[in-house]
Amino acid sequence: MSILFSEKEKVFTIHTKNSTYQMKVDAYGFLLHLYYGRRTEGCMDYLLHYADRGFSGNPYDMDKDRTYSMDVLPQELPCQATGDYRSVSVIVKNTDGSYGCDFRYTGHRIVKGKYGLPGLPAVYAGEDEAQTLEIDLEDASAKVKVTLFYGVLPELDILTRSARIENGGAGKIYLEKAQAACLDWVGGDFDLICFYGRHAMERNVQRTPVAHGAQVITSRRGTSSHQYNPMMIVAGRETNEDAGSCYAMSFLYSGNFKGEVERDQFHQTRALLGLSDELFSYPLESGEAFFVPEVVLSYSGAGLSCLSQNLHKCFRTHLCRGKYRDQVRPVLLNSWEASYFEFSGESLYGLAKEAAELGIEMLVMDDGWFGKRDDDFSGLGDWYVNEEKLGEPLGELIGRINGLGLKFGIWFEPEGISEDSDLYRQHPDWVLAVPGRRPVRARYQLVLDFSRKEVVDALFEQMCAVLDQGNIEYVKWDMNRSLSDCFSQGTSDQGRVMHDYVLGLYDFLERLVQRYPDILLEGCSGGGGRFDAGMLYYTPQIWCSDNSDARDRVDIQYGTSFGYPVSAVGSHVSAVPNHQNGRVTPFDTRAIVAMAGTFGYELDPAKLTAEEKQSIREQIREYHRYAPLILSGLYYRLTDPAVSETGAWEFLAEDASELLVGAVMLEVHGNMTVNYIRLKGLPSGCLYEETGSGKVYGSDALMETGIPLPVEMGEYRAYQMHFVRRSCEGKF
Ligand code: GLA
Repeated sequence: MSILFSEKEKVFTIHTKNSTYQMKVDAYGFLLHLYYGRRTEGCMDYLLHYADRGFSGNPYDMDKDRTYSMDVLPQELPCQATGDYRSVSVIVKNTDGSYGCDFRYTGHRIVKGKYGLPGLPAVYAGEDEAQTLEIDLEDASAKVKVTLFYGVLPELDILTRSARIENGGAGKIYLEKAQAACLDWVGGDFDLICFYGRHAMERNVQRTPVAHGAQVITSRRGTSSHQYNPMMIVAGRETNEDAGSCYAMSFLYSGNFKGEVERDQFHQTRALLGLSDELFSYPLESGEAFFVPEVVLSYSGAGLSCLSQNLHKCFRTHLCRGKYRDQVRPVLLNSWEASYFEFSGESLYGLAKEAAELGIEMLVMDDGWFGKRDDDFSGLGDWYVNEEKLGEPLGELIGRINGLGLKFGIWFEPEGISEDSDLYRQHPDWVLAVPGRRPVRARYQLVLDFSRKEVVDALFEQMCAVLDQGNIEYVKWDMNRSLSDCFSQGTSDQGRVMHDYVLGLYDFLERLVQRYPDILLEGCSGGGGRFDAGMLYYTPQIWCSDNSDARDRVDIQYGTSFGYPVSAVGSHVSAVPNHQNGRVTPFDTRAIVAMAGTFGYELDPAKLTAEEKQSIREQIREYHRYAPLILSGLYYRLTDPAVSETGAWEFLAEDASELLVGAVMLEVHGNMTVNYIRLKGLPSGCLYEETGSGKVYGSDALMETGIPLPVEMGEYRAYQMHFVRRSCEGKF
């Protein structure tokens, strides 16, 4: 049993393999947080401290007791207008216009398995792999009811949190804020690690001390965004990759979000994650309920590598779905950087032919095949095949490409719409725009109003009509701008539009997954602008960044690895000089970096030398040899590329029988020093053979001093080394 309830103390204890989470219903019915951290026994209510604190008010039922204040106590569901003046999870605007709630415990259930959420992504698990705790709370005067959901996957050290908020009263209420998870620490000094960026340079790592005042990461862009990822880590000041306590919070949501970390007047820390309260005022009629999207939590007492590995495993095996979840994905050639908008059926066939000769397994036809779309000024919304441009029906082209032994994939951007399109001319009211006001354009396009079912229905139909034309085995789902002008002509409550948009997106994706279970979906939003755990429920891989330069990708993939498994990271070898930054890197380096992902190509093979073509054949053979290890091994970051001369990582088989190390030289200097890459996670007292050279190394020395990288001339050299365990002082 992972979830325990002590009737006497009214304490809930949730154990995972290495962590314990505890909370208590106190004498007044408030649900207080007691503890989250290293696995422990006992009741931690001794951590609560009661004192008369000036300007920290007391709930009315405390009568003359001034030592009880929501402003100080750690809570599971902090709400506005309870006397808690810190950042809160929930704000309700009641029927009478008042703000505030007063939630008290009314009951709970402990059930087998993991709860699901209607219309929303959620971690899933078998009946015997997980348990769910549901705690009911009610505001007796406003008649608002909340059920808090706690999912626990004990073997994975994963907890999940979500909530159902129901209007049990007679009139309409508004949810003004709804966040899924709150972590309150009564003491401790922490750092916040978050992931910021921009288009083509996503998920840079920032580590800052948690200070007085609130630090906020957020998206107001309608997508989870390039700018901040909806995932954060709160870590002890001393915590590093290999040791120390740390907590991950990852939001399974692809729209506006808010993460807040705040140190209060008594040096207590609170971290919140969930929906953003900006552009959000969600109406609930009498009897209606709202499900707050899920946050995944994990605790590691063994440093950041272990924390990331917990998330990787959970997302890979209990969030991603479908045929390709556990499969090595086909090595693809994407047409975008090979030919942009300029192609025909014949030229694509030419690409496919070259690709087939090199061992590439799938051709993806990117943007430009539909409507009137020879540049990015027109065509979005008209998802019918431009047969004139292709010179043949789509089915025929696919048949010819399949005939070469290649699979066929296709690009869509279902949420985008160009004003120069038939769809816009027919339905100008189907876009997000304020009537009478000129909307903000981005990439010269607008956004379809996915909060409206008829819009989603129409686009789904258009998309199916294309997908049914041939043997399409892959779809790249793109989204190339941030939302603005968030006004829908489908509702009079504009405060619901941003969230309903995301629900519309999920509805579309779910229909797609159900109708085409064998199609591999890859998410994309100008690269990694919607790289979040919500999308992974539908698309097991996401194009990590529009920046395909191997040097920049070392940084981008490093940051991404904190929260997401390598099996989710879309990564391709592209041409040099690189199309995003003009940098020239060696061909091998590009392949080694792309192999730390789903692996593919984004170039015109006809422009390569015979030697490079031969390299591709070898790279693909190598990828196939190592792909199972890459996709499901334990991932270790071996260096921090921001401060190291190298970027290096490791994939270790769970039974430590083999490992693969990738390393890129980030700097080159005269009379260069030697860089030693220290390996991680190996069992002590073993010998490992590096299969390329046949040399044998001791595991302890590999971890203690490391393996020297060659000192060579030239920029951005990269090395990939595969080791196999040969013997171990009687250990294996
Ligand atoms: C986005 C994607 C690219 C490509 C283009 C097509 O930028 O990230 O990979 O598909 O759109 O317009």
